[in-house]
Amino acid sequence: MSLLQTIYTAADAVRGRIGDRQPQVGIVLGSGLGKLADQIEDPVAVPYEEIPGFPVSTAIGHKNRFIVGTLSGKCVIAMQGRIHYYDGYPMSLVTLPIRVMKVLGIQYLLVSNAAGGTNLDFHVGDLMVITDHINDLPNPLIGPNLDEFGPRFPDMTRPYDPKLIALADEIAAEKGIPLRKGVYYALTGPCYETPAEYACFRRYGADAVGMSTVPEVIVARHSNIPCFGISVITDVAHATDDEEYVTDGNAIIAAADAAADRMTILFKTLLERL
Ligand code: HPA
Repeated sequence: MSLLQTIYTAADAVRGRIGDRQPQVGIVLGSGLGKLADQIEDPVAVPYEEIPGFPVSTAIGHKNRFIVGTLSGKCVIAMQGRIHYYDGYPMSLVTLPIRVMKVLGIQYLLVSNAAGGTNLDFHVGDLMVITDHINDLPNPLIGPNLDEFGPRFPDMTRPYDPKLIALADEIAAEKGIPLRKGVYYALTGPCYETPAEYACFRRYGADAVGMSTVPEVIVARHSNIPCFGISVITDVAHATDDEEYVTDGNAIIAAADAAADRMTILFKTLLERL
């Protein structure tokens, strides 16, 4: 089956499950942030394993299903569990859910992730609005171009929508939620970085590093979908100087969970104002 056929077959399967709901906004819920899905009203869950051709994530804390329903008055399609490149799938499958959401009609993509802070001013628990990214993963657009979705050489000048960033700033100020801004550096994982790598990425211009988000944003931008992304800073690279320091996956999930309430307020208010 060609990639196009895989996309349309999967989209048909999801459409068959969600009745007359027409998703306007796609949301990718990163590690520990799946709780937002519990607030979706009138939800229909579609497990990835029931969608033909769909990959399934192996990451801890990921549930592997779409939830479609209403949040802040908007019809949303949320990914509770995203696919990472380290799961072992080709990039065409890692980003298949985004293409399916595009076929289903989304007009915005909101993305969250957990990330390691390389910016020396960052603390565990900070929320960082992603203003730009550096891609150190294979580009998901490699291969024959899907002309129906976008151009061969898409512009990436504004990967994260300036209007959505301004809106988030406004909401954060109103609600008293401190926000950082920064550049997200995406790499394959699944190892966390060595101290030398963290230092290297800082010098490259990264404020945070992680293993996701950028493939999804590239594919969404290919189709000209405005994107908004937030990283929860779950560990800080400068702590690696400490003799006892280890980067621990469970501590990372706990830090992401601790930020869930602030993140939920921000995302729900952003949705209301789209
Ligand atoms: N590196 C990569 N991915 C991550 C990190 C990190 O330090 N923290 C959370 N996700």
